[in-house]
Amino acid sequence: MKWNNNIINSLDWGKTIARKEEKENVARRIAAMVKDGDVLGVGSGSTSYLALLAIAERARNENLHIKAIPTSLEITMACTRLGIPVTNLEEYRPDWTFDGADEIDPHLRLIKGRGGAMFKEKLLINSSPKTYIIADSSKMVSRLGMNFPIPVEVFPQALTYVGQALRELLPAAIHLRMAEGKDGPVITENGNLIVDVWFDAIPDSAEVALKSITGVIESGLFIGYAVEIVNAESGAGF
Ligand code: A5P
Repeated sequence: MKWNNNIINSLDWGKTIARKEEKENVARRIAAMVKDGDVLGVGSGSTSYLALLAIAERARNENLHIKAIPTSLEITMACTRLGIPVTNLEEYRPDWTFDGADEIDPHLRLIKGRGGAMFKEKLLINSSPKTYIIADSSKMVSRLGMNFPIPVEVFPQALTYVGQALRELLPAAIHLRMAEGKDGPVITENGNLIVDVWFDAIPDSAEVALKSITGVIESGLFIGYAVEIVNAESGAGF
């Protein structure tokens, strides 16, 4: 028996989506790659959301049987609303994953995690034989960290220790991410805090340096991942 309620059914992205037309163009390219029977890793953020809408439309029109492994609650709820069955990493390995990014540099180094879902996003990308990073032109940067900080997910009781250890990496600024819509800090889906760290320069060693701090669950820095960029201008590639 199906629930008859309109809480999930009336959900949409909620905020204005910047560069929507460009993102919809890339979303159609991603939807065109889906094959019947695919298990898809689904990233978070508005670009991934629009790609999911395009995939759901194709699945409906062509009777494709697909499953999704979502990286966040927001995408899980979108799958429910769109009638896309959700599964998990315990049961399935994704055939491929698509995800957005906050910044992409010319060496395909990424900053992700504006949405706070970088732990599960990294897990999905590492679990997938193939990952497409879908991006509008605003995401391509000449220097990583010019528009976005590196988000670092921190076990709450380790916050002070992690703050001290982060300072030794000589950041330009460190901010505990505060919530909108609740008082106090953002709490991740894993029950942790997010510290946003700005650096003037980000060496290749930074991802490992951040992860080696006790109390750091994960960072939004992705260096050396075998991802393929799909953007509006070129289709695939930088
Ligand atoms: C989510 O945690 C992030 O990693 C997103 O991939 C990123 O913030 C992109 O968001 P938009 O697609 O909304 O720009």
